[in-house]
Amino acid sequence: MTEIDDCILEMRQVVKTFPGVRALDGVNLSVRPGTVHVICGENGAGKSTLMKVLNGTHQADSGEVWFKGKKIEHETIDSALGMGIAMIYQELNPILDMTVAENIFLGREPLKGPLVDFKKLYDDTQELLFRLDMPYNAKQKMHSLSIAGHQLIEIAKAISREASVIIMDEPTSAIADAEVAILFAQIQALKERGVAVIYITHKMDEIFKIADDITIIRDGKWVDSGPASNYNPNKLVSLMVGREISTIFPKDETVPIGDVVLEVKDLTQGPEYGGRFSGINFDLRAGEIVGFAGLVGAGRSEVMRAVFGLDRFSSGTIVINGEPIKIRNTTDAIKNGIAMISEDRKMYGLALGRNIHENISLVNLKKYVKKIVIHDGAITRDALKMKDLLSIKIPSFKVEANTLSGGNQQKVVLAKWLTGEVKIMILDEPTRGIDVGAKAEIHRLMGKFARQGMAIIMISSELPEIIGMSDRIVVMREGRINGILSREEATQESIMRLATQENMKQAI
Ligand SMILES: Nc1ncnc2c1ncn2[C@@H]1O[C@H](COP(=O)(O)OP(=O)(O)OP(=O)(O)O)[C@@H](O)[C@H]1O
Ligand SMILES: [Mg+2]
Repeated sequence: MTEIDDCILEMRQVVKTFPGVRALDGVNLSVRPGTVHVICGENGAGKSTLMKVLNGTHQADSGEVWFKGKKIEHETIDSALGMGIAMIYQELNPILDMTVAENIFLGREPLKGPLVDFKKLYDDTQELLFRLDMPYNAKQKMHSLSIAGHQLIEIAKAISREASVIIMDEPTSAIADAEVAILFAQIQALKERGVAVIYITHKMDEIFKIADDITIIRDGKWVDSGPASNYNPNKLVSLMVGREISTIFPKDETVPIGDVVLEVKDLTQGPEYGGRFSGINFDLRAGEIVGFAGLVGAGRSEVMRAVFGLDRFSSGTIVINGEPIKIRNTTDAIKNGIAMISEDRKMYGLALGRNIHENISLVNLKKYVKKIVIHDGAITRDALKMKDLLSIKIPSFKVEANTLSGGNQQKVVLAKWLTGEVKIMILDEPTRGIDVGAKAEIHRLMGKFARQGMAIIMISSELPEIIGMSDRIVVMREGRINGILSREEATQESIMRLATQENMKQAI
C-alpha cells in the first residue's frame, strides 16, 4: 500500500501467542499520520491484541514495530505513552469515586511543592473540556457520567497527553448517535492536527463514514489492507469471515403470539431511587419480541433494571402470569423466570476472574446440584452446547473470562443465561460489540426462543435491529413511554420522531 516514508507507524509480521492460542500470526499494519485507519475482523480475530502489542501491554513474540522512523522494542504502557501512543480500551476502567479531572490527570497531577495543585488541576481540565466541546464539569465524579461519558473522558485524557497515535477500541459500542457525532467531530479535529487514529469497530456504517485506510485480520492473520475506497460492505464482510453470510434475521412472523406473561403497571421511580422513569405501562406476551427504542439516557435500561430487581422503584406493579409479584432483588426476578443480559457485561454479566465453565454455570447452579454434589458433567455438556451454538472462541473452559476478546465475553454472558429455565428474557444491547456472523446467530437464537414460547424484551440502539426483530416497539423519551408502534407502523422515521419529540397524542 503506502510508501513506508509516509507512515508514522509500521507493524511487520507481528506474532503473539498466549497459552493455547496464537492470537497474532504475522500481522502487518501501516498507518499514515492525519488519517483514520480502521481494523476489521471477527470477534477473537486479534484486533485488541495487536493494539496491546503496540501500546506496550503485551510483548510480541516476534515481528517489528517502527514508529516515526525508529524501531521500537520492549515497550511498556508508560514508555509507549511517553512516545505518544495512547489507547482507549474496549473495556474501560474509570475510577468512579474520583472526579473527571483526577481521572484525566491520574498519576501526572500538577504539583505545588509536594502536594497536588488542585486549582490548576481543575482549571486545566475545565479548559481542556471546553476546548473539546465536552459537556462535563472537571469536578464531577466519574460515577455521575454514562458509559459514553467515560469514553469521552478517555479521549480527553489521550488528547491531553498530546499523543500522535490514538487507538480507539470500539469507542462507540456503548454510546448513542448524538454522542457518536461528538466523537467523530473530535476525530476530525485530531486528523487535522496530524494525529493518526487507529479505530476498531464492528459497525459497518461507521467504517465507511470515517475510514481512510482499512486493514482486515482473520484468525490472527493479516488478510488485506488498502484505502477505504477499495472496499464495500459485502467485500469487507467476506474478507473478515471468509464466507458469505446474511446480516440481519428478521423476526419470524409465523411464531404464534401467546398469553400475556408480563404486565408492568404504572411503574415509577421516585427521586429517592434516582427518579429515572415514571408511569411506565406495557405488557409482553409469550413468543413475542418487544423492542425498546430511545436515545441513550431515555430510561430504557433503568426500567429493565427495576423489573429485574437490580434497582428499586417507588410505586407500580409487576404482574407475571396474572399474579402481582414482589421483586426486591435479582433472586426474586430469577425465581420468577426472568433473566437479564445487561448492557455493561463487566459490572453485571461476567465474573471476569472466574473461568468460563464457572461463568456459564453461575446463575443456574441449582440446576446442576444433584444431592449436594455439583454435577460437573452436566455443566460441561451445557457449556459445550453453548460454545457450539454461539461459536464462542475459547481455548478451554478453564481460561479466565478476562482473557477473552470483547465479543466472546458477550457470548459467554448470553450462554450463561440461555442454559437456564427462562420465561422472560431481557436483553440490553445484546449484539453490541458482536461481529456480523455472531450477530446473525444471536438473532436466529432469539427467534428460536420466541418459537419455544419465551417472551423477549430487547433494548437496542440500532434501529435496523429493532425494526427487523420486534413484534412491537416501545419508544421511550425522558423517562416515559412516548409511544408503542406495531411492526407495520415502525420505520426509522416513526421511531426517531417518538424518541426525540413530544408525542401530542400522549400529552393530551
Ligand atoms: N491475556 C490473554 N490471555 C490469553 N488469551 C488471550 C488474552 N488476550 C487475548 N487472548 C486471546 O487472543 C485471541 C484474540 O483476542 P482479541 O481480544 O485480540 O480479539 P478481538 O479481535 O479484539 O475480538 P473482539 O472483536 O471480540 O474484541 C482470542 O482468542 C483471545 O481469547
Ligand atoms: Mg477486541
